[in-house]
Amino acid sequence: MGKFSRGAVQLTCLFALITEMVLGTPELRILPSQPTLNRPISQSMLLSCRVDVENKILVTNLQWYDPTGRVIGDNTDSYSLETGMHIERMPDGLFLIFPMLQERHAGNYTCTAKYTNTEELSKTVNIKTFVAITWEDAPEEQYPILMSDYKVRCKVTAKPAPLVDWLQNGDPIKVGGRYIIETDGLLIQNVTEADDGMYTCRAIVIDTGELSERNIRVEVHIPPKFEKMESSVTMVESETASVTCRAHGKPPPTFMWIKSSTQQDLTTADRFSVDRLTGVLTIRDVSKDDDGGYKCVATNAAGKIEHALKINVTLKPRIVAYKNISIPTNKQARLSCSASGRPMPTVTFRKLTSSDRFVLGVQKDDRIVVENTLDIERGETVGSLIISNILRTDDGLYECIAINEGGVAFKNGHLTVEFKPSFASTPMHEAWSWHNNPVNVTCLAESIPNATITWRLNNIEINEKFVDMNVRKFGEGPWSSLQITPLDRKYYGRYTCKAVNQHGSAEHVIVLKEAKRPSEILQAKLDVITATTITFSFIGPADNGSLPTRNYGVLYKEARQDWRDAKNKTWPIDSPYILEGLEPQTTYNFKFAAQNDVGFGDWAAQEHLTMPKRSSPEEPRILTNTKEEGVVMSPYSSRYELTWKIPAHNGEPIDQYTIKFCRVKRVDGMWTEMGYPCDSKDISSTENTMYVLKNLVPDAYYKIELRAHNKIGFSLPGEVIIKTARGGDTPVSATEGPALSTGAIVSIVVASLIIILIFIDVSCYLVNRTGLLMVICEKICGSRTNDEDAKLGSLYSWRFPLPYCSNKDSPGPGLITEKVPETNVSIDEKEPLKDASNKTTIQGSIKKETSVDFDMKKSISRTSFVGKDSAV
Ligand SMILES: *[C@@H]1O[C@H](CO)[C@@H](O)[C@H](O)[C@H]1NC(C)=O
Ligand SMILES: *[C@@H]1O[C@H](CO)[C@@H](O)[C@H](O)[C@H]1NC(C)=O
Ligand SMILES: *[C@@H]1O[C@H](CO)[C@@H](O)[C@H](O)[C@H]1NC(C)=O
Ligand SMILES: *[C@@H]1O[C@H](CO)[C@@H](O)[C@H](O)[C@H]1NC(C)=O
Repeated sequence: MGKFSRGAVQLTCLFALITEMVLGTPELRILPSQPTLNRPISQSMLLSCRVDVENKILVTNLQWYDPTGRVIGDNTDSYSLETGMHIERMPDGLFLIFPMLQERHAGNYTCTAKYTNTEELSKTVNIKTFVAITWEDAPEEQYPILMSDYKVRCKVTAKPAPLVDWLQNGDPIKVGGRYIIETDGLLIQNVTEADDGMYTCRAIVIDTGELSERNIRVEVHIPPKFEKMESSVTMVESETASVTCRAHGKPPPTFMWIKSSTQQDLTTADRFSVDRLTGVLTIRDVSKDDDGGYKCVATNAAGKIEHALKINVTLKPRIVAYKNISIPTNKQARLSCSASGRPMPTVTFRKLTSSDRFVLGVQKDDRIVVENTLDIERGETVGSLIISNILRTDDGLYECIAINEGGVAFKNGHLTVEFKPSFASTPMHEAWSWHNNPVNVTCLAESIPNATITWRLNNIEINEKFVDMNVRKFGEGPWSSLQITPLDRKYYGRYTCKAVNQHGSAEHVIVLKEAKRPSEILQAKLDVITATTITFSFIGPADNGSLPTRNYGVLYKEARQDWRDAKNKTWPIDSPYILEGLEPQTTYNFKFAAQNDVGFGDWAAQEHLTMPKRSSPEEPRILTNTKEEGVVMSPYSSRYELTWKIPAHNGEPIDQYTIKFCRVKRVDGMWTEMGYPCDSKDISSTENTMYVLKNLVPDAYYKIELRAHNKIGFSLPGEVIIKTARGGDTPVSATEGPALSTGAIVSIVVASLIIILIFIDVSCYLVNRTGLLMVICEKICGSRTNDEDAKLGSLYSWRFPLPYCSNKDSPGPGLITEKVPETNVSIDEKEPLKDASNKTTIQGSIKKETSVDFDMKKSISRTSFVGKDSAV
């Protein structure tokens, strides 16, 4: 009908307009001018009605009628409230206003008016309403849950009713499988993660040509699920521990921990902290009350799950009771140590002096057993260390050790082994007194508990009744001492100390004896004789008078004097017994005695001796540092510090020293002068024992001879071979010696000793030319009988190896006098080597001679003194 009717209407209007213009008849006009208006509800709408004439005064009574034929009023009357429409008069027309168009407003609305009071004008318009597409329930983000059925909501309304279809990610959805389009949404059966995506819900109204789309983002949610979770965890008391609740889901779940017994949410609890995102529950300073059930709750949009978990709190062991005990020997000791803890600890023991712990049960030493009993009620383990037949050695500290998973606890306890007194540590069996000296007799009784000590003298109790200022008691035990002043013989005797404690008693006897002077000395020997000195040796007294010998003494006088004018000298025992300051060629008488704390014994062992003649001094001994192959290395290239020991002067004071030094070289193992003139120096200061040789040639050997001189003549020379250092003087000071390490020096000395030995051997062979090898040489050299001699021998062997080893000049191989020429002199006629023939005759009268050092003086020694040889 539309096209034709609209065309007809237009024609009619055109016709009316023309008629009006032609006939001058006005007409009503309604705008919008379509006879039918199709409008969506809920919108406001306005219709206007007017008359197009020049003279508006001619138009009156302009009205709007509703579909029921009622006149529509303005917005002040009740009609507009009731119907939701009203009119407004404007200068050139009348508006009909619908503030909000509703379905009930549909129908024909007529506008009427009168023209020149005669002509009735009317015009009608038809209003149709429709409902636009409205998204009633279609959220733009929706979250189905995995594995369930979910309807993607898209409730759309329109009138006429809309057609709805769906797109997924831009493509038409495949209906029929898991997807079912329903009026209010798209039902997805058994949602999978692949259902995530952008869904489009599209509504079309054919009548109105309306089309609307709604994009809905679908994200599949997955309910939380626990990963592998333990059902119990163990924490240690007072430590910090944590446990993690592990669950996944989409979106990731958040966590909560709840204590089962109190339903307390631990997120805010003291000492607890919960990380809502990671699920970690941390407990600080775990207490034993934390032991129990807990619940971990994991929640996300898709669901909520719970996991129950038991927290076991391990309590560290604690030693509750451990007492010291005291037990007598041979009884059974039981050390009990109670320890608490969860789980209940194992208790064992260790003796502090040992590093090994005892094992549970019987030990290797089967007297010792360790037991554990559980006291469930108190939650304690009682460990017992049981030692049967305890010995004194079991006394000591025992450590109780309680162990469980939470840790270890230690405590020491003392096992005191009581025992009866013993005097094992009282060494005193005898005591001595003399000259009424007070003396202490002392007892120390070992025992536990301490013993008390009483004393008896020869079975008479020493108590208050034994009133005697000469016996004083100090100490009642375990130590006690009697100070006795034996003014009378009765105080000498058996002193018995008796120690008593609850386990028994013990006695110890100390005999107090009177000490005496030593008996006579058995023998005195005149060992070494010079013109002015004698060295003695003694064979002590047969009876030392019960006390150790302290000194030996000599009483001596010149033969012509009376014993009353005798002089004396004492020496502490074991010192060199040297008597000095004697006159040469004077005959002396000697008596000897030993001395102990009581005093000197009787003077006895008479001897007499005529001192030898004055003679030239003994050979001065040159002091040297270490030698290499018998050569002393000088630390300097051009000088050498010579030091020596003052020799015995043999009756006349030394008035000078003479030093001679010559350059030498070694020829066939002998030091031979090289033909350069020798230097000589006299030193008249006799106190001197040091002289610096200067202007020496570097890297050269020198033989130095030192002689002492007195009125009678020169001594034999002390000799040394030195070698000056190479090149310029090294900065080494003389006292430091050569810059060699001790190790190097030792090895050099050892090497040089070996070389010396070989040297001697070869020399022997060369000189004797009889095929004498080392064996023979050893035989000759081996006849030395005295250690001192051997020392000197070795000293001289490198200097004079040939005469020393060769037997050509020797009157007999047994005569050691041959080795050292200066000892080759008779006691009374000691002279420098001038009279060689003398020696053989003299030798007959000397039973045995050895060379001995005392105080660095070399002298003749005898095993016994032979008086007749000393005749002048
Ligand atoms: C046990 O003995 C030890 C060592 O002798 C001591 O230090 C500790 O105080 C004693 N304990 C008791 C309870 O007597
Ligand atoms: C004996 O012992 C006591 C106490 O120790 C001490 O005072 C005294 O001097 C001692 N007497 C002697 C002679 O040692
Ligand atoms: C036992 O004697 C010792 C040594 O005199 C002493 O140190 C200790 O205190 C005494 N003990 C007792 C229980 O008297
Ligand atoms: C030793 O001599 C001194 C004086 O020189 C004298 O007083 C002392 O009594 C003498 N000793 C002996 C044991 O004769």
